[in-house]
Amino acid sequence: MAEVVIVRDRAEAGALVADSIAALIRTRPDAVLGLATGSTPLPVYEALREKLAGVDLSQVRGFALDEYVGLPLEHHESYASVISREVVEPLGLDPQRIQTPPAHDDDLEGAGARYEAAIREAGGIDVQILGIGTDGHIGFNEPGSSFASRTRVKTLTAQTREDNARFFDSIDEVPRHCLTQGLGTILEAGHLVLLAFGEGKAEAVAGAVEGALSASLPGSAIQLHPHVTVVVDEAAASKL
Ligand code: GLP
Repeated sequence: MAEVVIVRDRAEAGALVADSIAALIRTRPDAVLGLATGSTPLPVYEALREKLAGVDLSQVRGFALDEYVGLPLEHHESYASVISREVVEPLGLDPQRIQTPPAHDDDLEGAGARYEAAIREAGGIDVQILGIGTDGHIGFNEPGSSFASRTRVKTLTAQTREDNARFFDSIDEVPRHCLTQGLGTILEAGHLVLLAFGEGKAEAVAGAVEGALSASLPGSAIQLHPHVTVVVDEAAASKL
């Protein structure tokens, strides 16, 4: 079973996860980070600013989990913009070494395969940060996603579009599709770190950590991985 760490608040979670990422980068300067978006990982990125001060980050590589299809790259809410604003710029990472799924590519099927190849060429992801959707999605692998799935286009559920509408002026602006790493892709990372905060995530967390393995709750795929750390506050842990 996953190691579950219950923390007081987001700041404590951020510091804890940032410590382990900083330790990884000190021992392996060319570490490959799996970056997540959404509001959940933000405390980790904030804490990393301090923990990584003075550390040589020139060799660090990173791959984002997912990207919206149909949103211009320069849009404030494209995950390329978010990763650049929240991670690459504040930490001073080399933008050439950080990739997001190429969801603006004309050949989207080929784009998924090329992204997978880039991850493989980098030697695979050492540590994958994950949030979880209220419907149990990880990355943008919505309910019904195969545990063997690879990077591909997915349709966002109504629930996810509603959840993410808060980042846009209106729900009509929220894209309907995305290019996301598959569950099979995510399971190949060396270490999975899933974070969740608040009561709204409690059911999804319980399903992911100790529910039945089911494509209806894509987060339950983490039970197939040998090295998983789940970092949650009391509210998100309340149904465990
Ligand atoms: C988003 C992202 C996921 C994220 C999840 C939860 O749509 N694609 O990677 O984990 O939904 O979002 P939040 O962290 O804002 O609750």
